[in-house]
Amino acid sequence: MRRAFAGFLPKRGRFKGGSRYNRASLSGHVTTFFNTLSEETVLNAAKKSADKTATRKSKGKAGKQAQPKPAPARGHTGEWSARKSLDLYGFERWGNDYFSVSKNGNVTARTLNASVELIDIVNGMLERDMQMPVLLRIENILDAQIKRLNMAFRTAIESHGYKSEYRGVYPIKVNQQSQVVEEIADFGKRYKHGFEVGSKPEIIVALSTLEEPGSLIICNGYKDVEFIELGLSAIKLGFVCVFVVETPSEIPSIIECSRRTGIEPIIGVRVKTTAAVGGHWNSTSGDRSVFGLTTSQLVELVDTLKAENMLHCLQLLHCHLGSQIPDIKDIRMGITEVCRYYADLVNEGAALKYIDLGGGLAVDYTGWGSTYGQSRNYSLQEYCDDIVDTLKQSFDEYGIAHPTIVTESGRATIAYSSILIFNVVDTTIFEPSNLPAPHKDEHPLITSMRDIYGSLTESRIQECYNDAHYWRNEARELFRRGQLDLRTRSVAENLFLDLLHKIADLTESMGRVPSDLEGLKLSLADIYYGNFSLFQSLPDTWAIDQLFPIAPIHRLNEEPTRRAVIADITCDSDGKIDRFVGEGEVAKVLPLHELLPNKEYYLGVFLVGAYQETLGDLHNLFGDTNVVSVRINRDGGYDFVKEMQGDSIADVLSYVEYYPKEMQERHRNTAERAVREGRITARERQQIIKLFNESLNGYTYFEKED
Ligand SMILES: Cc1ncc(COP(=O)(O)O)c(C=O)c1O
Repeated sequence: MRRAFAGFLPKRGRFKGGSRYNRASLSGHVTTFFNTLSEETVLNAAKKSADKTATRKSKGKAGKQAQPKPAPARGHTGEWSARKSLDLYGFERWGNDYFSVSKNGNVTARTLNASVELIDIVNGMLERDMQMPVLLRIENILDAQIKRLNMAFRTAIESHGYKSEYRGVYPIKVNQQSQVVEEIADFGKRYKHGFEVGSKPEIIVALSTLEEPGSLIICNGYKDVEFIELGLSAIKLGFVCVFVVETPSEIPSIIECSRRTGIEPIIGVRVKTTAAVGGHWNSTSGDRSVFGLTTSQLVELVDTLKAENMLHCLQLLHCHLGSQIPDIKDIRMGITEVCRYYADLVNEGAALKYIDLGGGLAVDYTGWGSTYGQSRNYSLQEYCDDIVDTLKQSFDEYGIAHPTIVTESGRATIAYSSILIFNVVDTTIFEPSNLPAPHKDEHPLITSMRDIYGSLTESRIQECYNDAHYWRNEARELFRRGQLDLRTRSVAENLFLDLLHKIADLTESMGRVPSDLEGLKLSLADIYYGNFSLFQSLPDTWAIDQLFPIAPIHRLNEEPTRRAVIADITCDSDGKIDRFVGEGEVAKVLPLHELLPNKEYYLGVFLVGAYQETLGDLHNLFGDTNVVSVRINRDGGYDFVKEMQGDSIADVLSYVEYYPKEMQERHRNTAERAVREGRITARERQQIIKLFNESLNGYTYFEKED
């Protein structure tokens, strides 16, 4: 179905700063691209019209009118293959070996030398009555990431002759969903992979999930007495639970709780590094970072612990340079500085044995392998090698025993395993339709527009663009004044669109494009309406301009001939995606396939597992999506390990303090009154009430009729 063209939505001013993001008001106006283009008032339309035609004829190929062809299907370049799609969407660049395309043009997820087509999983969900959108989690990918991280450190430790071990912890805040945390505890057991916690709820999650004695629990964040008592109880249970001191005010509570319970604490200290790193989250490092002790606070801490005869409890040095650090040089530099702190604290008498380097291991969302903020210029093995090498060199130089290396990798552990899959419910296509052949009685304004085709060359492109607007505006003005009928205006609008497409195509081959025309391709792109809410499922796209790779999950052996931006089904002008992972640059449009009648078209948004899940909000009251967790088997089959129904309408209404039971009651009363007043029959009342009640229990997203 084609909609009337609506134009593109300008970015609304956002306040970004402070916490991960602050959301400004979401309601706002919608400005259409086409309507914001200069709307000249045409006082002497008839005169100007005649002048223009004369000018055009004298400049152009007088008398020879190049005729517009019916709108062609754009972009066909002959043979297409799944291999071309693999390159186009960059699966091998950003997929970390987990995603590929099968010969029959379907995206595959692969682990354990077996691969499964995502469309197969979608069909399996539909058979189980699970509707789109769905958040698909692939367990084995999470398992593989934990294994890769631990093995890469093991390899680095062996190859550099480092004389201690690696112990990873997963920061629960990166994805707190119970199923994810339980899987990490399970898959991480063999490496004693622990947890990083930053609040009482998170330590409770850790205590009820971790099983292996000796696993690390790193307690960051501000800790009250209850938090500290929970941590001390963890030590009693056999976990290595470390209180990382973030501020000097925490020390007295830790000492007091330890004395009262008779449990000796394991203390860590977070230092502020001065080396500022690149990337979006660099405010967590450097002098102005919120967390960590200054050098004078560090000295005070040592003196206090010495005075309390507890310096031997200071066993871990912590730093967190930032998340998503794109440049390996920054990591090396930061670690070198941390080693200096470590050495001096050992010299002060601290019994340090762990060095915790926090998070920062980046995910290459773009696949560019660069220092761009959403990429990284290193591999996992290089990250581990550089850390181990830097630590070994520094500690050997200081003559200090090699400590256990701890990292708190969150994003890199979890991002790959989740994919958001949604169907496209509609499109808006900005292309001319039904262009009639020229005929002798047509309106002179239409003839003037047809003339523009004859002059469309690189050197006159701006002039043609201006003229197309001029005549289109004239058509609108004449229509307003009753001097042009609806059909003629429609032809003028269609010719205008056709001209803009031709102009945009011409800009593709031009070295220097006039500034007016730079955004033209984007403003002519299709809009594909996806059955999802950006604010619920991809909040980072909206809030911090996060790029996630997006691709169709099927039909990849067909050429994607459309160029589109994606809008969600919220009625919010910010609910759109118009920045995509291109090859080496951020692309403004995504190549997509034309929709086929009565056939679903599915898109996948990849690498979405980190941070976002609990940040999503209920904008327009779209709730949590369905979640399905699958395990790929060695024989290429798969099991649905878990299925979680997304929120029903009643669920989301209750989150904003409506009471579904009361709503049903009030609706029933309204229906009863309608019966009493003769508007409906009693039978109709029953049908209306049934519909209302069934809807309350239904999914919040767009559902297709069977
Ligand atoms: C203290 C701490 N550790 C670990 C992480 C996880 O970082 P990443 O997701 O980059 O691995 C964070 C995130 O900001 C953090 O604040």
